Amino acid sequence: MAGLSSKNKNNNGYMKNWHQLFIVSIMVTTLAAACNNAEEKKETVTAAPEAKLKQEKWGSVDGKDVYLYTLTNKSGAEVTITNYGGIVTSWVSPDKNGIKSSVVLGFDSLSGYLARPPYFGAIIGRYGNRIAKGSFKIDTATYTLAKNNGANHLHGGDKGFDKVVWDAITQTTGPASLTLHYLSKDGEEGYPGNLKVNVTYTFTDDNELNMEYSAETDKPTVVNLTNHSYFNLTGDPSTTILNHSLQVNADRYTPVDKGLIPTGELKDVKGTPFDFLQPHTIGERIAAVDGGYDHNFVLTKKEKGVELVATLSDSLSGRKLEVFTEEPGLQFYSGNFLDGTIKTSGGKAINKYAALCLETQHFPDAPNQPAFPSTILKPGEKYHTITKYKISLNK
Ligand code: GLA
Repeated sequence: MAGLSSKNKNNNGYMKNWHQLFIVSIMVTTLAAACNNAEEKKETVTAAPEAKLKQEKWGSVDGKDVYLYTLTNKSGAEVTITNYGGIVTSWVSPDKNGIKSSVVLGFDSLSGYLARPPYFGAIIGRYGNRIAKGSFKIDTATYTLAKNNGANHLHGGDKGFDKVVWDAITQTTGPASLTLHYLSKDGEEGYPGNLKVNVTYTFTDDNELNMEYSAETDKPTVVNLTNHSYFNLTGDPSTTILNHSLQVNADRYTPVDKGLIPTGELKDVKGTPFDFLQPHTIGERIAAVDGGYDHNFVLTKKEKGVELVATLSDSLSGRKLEVFTEEPGLQFYSGNFLDGTIKTSGGKAINKYAALCLETQHFPDAPNQPAFPSTILKPGEKYHTITKYKISLNK
């Protein structure tokens, strides 16, 4: 994004010798967590600058090494991801004039993230979205979580999956991919059970960023993982997303109370500003939505499996974002709480509506709402879900 990333440039000839580079890129698969000494670290970072997957040291947090991984596809588009919070820090793709810029909010350096921006680009867990009053029951046991959002629990608590260092394994045969692993210990942030989590990001030649989430537990717990990327398809956060056009396959949404906890009703979108069955610009009806859009849409899925559920497009840049998921819900958040206090790496204020999130998920507060699809994971079961974001140019 202009001012956000040092990668905002026309990358002429970037991938010229693609085939050669492909061979070079069959590099050492790296388990960052296993790098206990400097010698090993040197050996693992072997990619040529133009390789499909590049790894560079970015800093350290909690005594653990933090890296920045650059996943490049055949077209030269690139996604950068850090193992701190599994954050997607940039997604550089061309607009209709071939000008490259990042379509997600992010920072050039780790310090931007350590200042706790509101979940920019991160993996959210153990429970994405809100749990009312920071409390839920499984069978007869009551669990108490941090109330880090007014009276409620939000996005995994004080130190959710967005603020921890994940172990990383890179893969360079086929499309570039990065698998992140995290063990969330029994009792962490109040949640029961040791939860082993894997998230694999794969960046395909079709400009799809695939996110495959899996988890296993040793005690019954709740799990709801998502990614919190903030998109602005213009590539410039000083242009709001109000002129972006959105279409969502959802004939119902979950109305909320003042604390943004669902009332339990699944309301028909018909005749409301939440009807995005046909494309509408975000700005068209936002004034009629108290506080702006920050709601869970009940996706109208045709069948089980990964399906196209939402399309965002921007006529200025000609870019389009498609969201595919197997999750039952989509939180559309229009960046209402961005208020200019956070600055881009280039020093520009990130104001209200500078970017929006389309977070695929189970419904907010599902642990307290038995009528909602369950988020309980039991020992022996496998949590597994796929979401893909795809960027292309409008035809
Ligand atoms: C989510 C929530 C919003 C807000 C943002 C982060 O999308 O639904 O209410 O908390 O995260 O600011």
